[in-house]
Amino acid sequence: MALSNTVWITLAIVCASLVEGSMDRKDRQDPDWWKTTTVYQIYPRSFKDSDNDGTGDLKGIQSELDYFVDLGIETVWLSPIFKSPMKDFGYDVSDFIDIDPIFGTLEDFKDLLEAAHSRGLKIVMDYVPNHSSDQHEWFQKSLEKEDPYTDYYVWEDAIGFDNNGDPIPPNNWLSYFRYSAWEWNEQRQQFYLHQFVKEQPDLNYRNPLVLKEMQDVLTFWMELGVDGFRMDAVAYMWEDEQLLDEPLSGDPSALDEFDYFYLDHIYTNNLAETRDIILAAFDQTIKEFGAQDGYPRVNMLEVYLDIQDHLQYYECSDFPFNFYLISNTAQPPSAVMMFDAINYLLDNIEEDQVPNWVLGNHDNWRVGYRLGPKVVDTMNMILLTLPGVSVSYYGEEIGMTNNMNITFEQTVDPSGCNCGPQDYNEEVCSRDPERTPMQWNNGPNAGFNEGGPTWLPLNDNYVSVNVENQRDDPYSHFSIYKKMIALRQETALRFGSTVTKTIGNVLVVGRISETPETVPTFVLVANFAETSATVDLSEMFSTPQSDTGVVVVATDLQSDNSEGSIVSLQSITLSPMESFVFQL
Ligand code: NOJ
Ligand code: MG
Repeated sequence: MALSNTVWITLAIVCASLVEGSMDRKDRQDPDWWKTTTVYQIYPRSFKDSDNDGTGDLKGIQSELDYFVDLGIETVWLSPIFKSPMKDFGYDVSDFIDIDPIFGTLEDFKDLLEAAHSRGLKIVMDYVPNHSSDQHEWFQKSLEKEDPYTDYYVWEDAIGFDNNGDPIPPNNWLSYFRYSAWEWNEQRQQFYLHQFVKEQPDLNYRNPLVLKEMQDVLTFWMELGVDGFRMDAVAYMWEDEQLLDEPLSGDPSALDEFDYFYLDHIYTNNLAETRDIILAAFDQTIKEFGAQDGYPRVNMLEVYLDIQDHLQYYECSDFPFNFYLISNTAQPPSAVMMFDAINYLLDNIEEDQVPNWVLGNHDNWRVGYRLGPKVVDTMNMILLTLPGVSVSYYGEEIGMTNNMNITFEQTVDPSGCNCGPQDYNEEVCSRDPERTPMQWNNGPNAGFNEGGPTWLPLNDNYVSVNVENQRDDPYSHFSIYKKMIALRQETALRFGSTVTKTIGNVLVVGRISETPETVPTFVLVANFAETSATVDLSEMFSTPQSDTGVVVVATDLQSDNSEGSIVSLQSITLSPMESFVFQL
């Protein structure tokens, strides 16, 4: 059959665009791209080190973009890559619109962005609005009382001087990383507020110029082409003007009176103005930019709050990160615990609020350590079965765990250092254990670099826990993760309604198709018990047409539930700790 010229020309255009990059900017026309996206968080220092200097960099990330394409990841979020003295490893920013040389240059970033977009990948930037570095030009000028920078930060007088002649801070407010949140500055003869390390002075959002500056930062990165932002520590941006002491919390987990959790932060955290004034303005900047070029950027917020407070942040963003799978779970994991953590969000959000799920990040122990290595696949399957956005921390797809063998001398995280040699490895202290280099293979330094230094010691388990080892094994963490993402394409995992249930220690999550003739319903069953279990799901899922399902993602090779096998809804038997997904 001869093809007409028009058909040939059309095919040629289609092929050319596929070669250039399958999705390119065209898929940007989908205004809802972010509502079901898969986010992968890169901690840039730890991902891939192209120049063998010990710290990961942009060229390293660029060299691994096909890894995301292979895995099926759609959105990559980069923890801060801005200029920084690295007192808090990039969260102390000395120039919000430039790249730190340790990671590369602005040109490298533009290259990375283009290379990512040409593969249909989205790039989301971290954005750190609560504070800058003390080395930022604004702070240096503020020290000098040079206008307009004089009031760019939160400066307060001492309330007196003690017997040694030392200045007394305005109140008892504490830094998240321990000790007073006030630091005396000799030059200005005043205290400045820092809710994180002392080299991270808090910006003063009562000053409209600061708000404007930070809105311009957003515009700068959007003009460069980034696909959205993850906003850091947003609940800390506004403090009560009266500067009253904060009351004691009574929290037994506080190490001592210098521990942040010793106080109840009613005057420094989660004040209405942070949402109504600051975040509303940031969100407006982002939405207006998106409306202009017809492509919405995503705006995701970092907040750790109870559900009622949490929900308020939907008003000023696309979504606040949902950390309940972290904060509301602990060892030993159980079906009821997961059910409660999941429904803490699902029972409370409105229809038009997009749910999202996070298992770990650079501030929390890795899920494979916190809940144990046996539930790595189960947790990834839960993450990728639930509705909305999934957020994975690098290495979760291969089951990386904490490196708890880092000595106090090797510890670099200020939060660990401030806890001292006794406590540094407590969960609330050092974050180094979850920040060690990505484990690519079992070669030198796990393929993170070519055998040079590494900024943190590798986890010894890289010899077996690595990408190369897992890539071709159909039942590895990597392969299961990849199969789960593949299932999400245009299926009920993206668009279906959600049902959850526990039967004994088995968790059931169903994603029900509205059009079962063409799109199947998917069901995840996860046994959290160390013994086998049999469940009857016929009432939940049987239809007049069928009372069986077909296993599509399996985990336990020893069990009968291998991929392709038929399960009878009336009686499904799971091995100890087994989980799998079947379709109806
Ligand atoms: C939250 C970030 O995730 C954390 O790593 C950082 O130390 C603080 N905010 C301060 O920026
Ligand atoms: Mg490097």
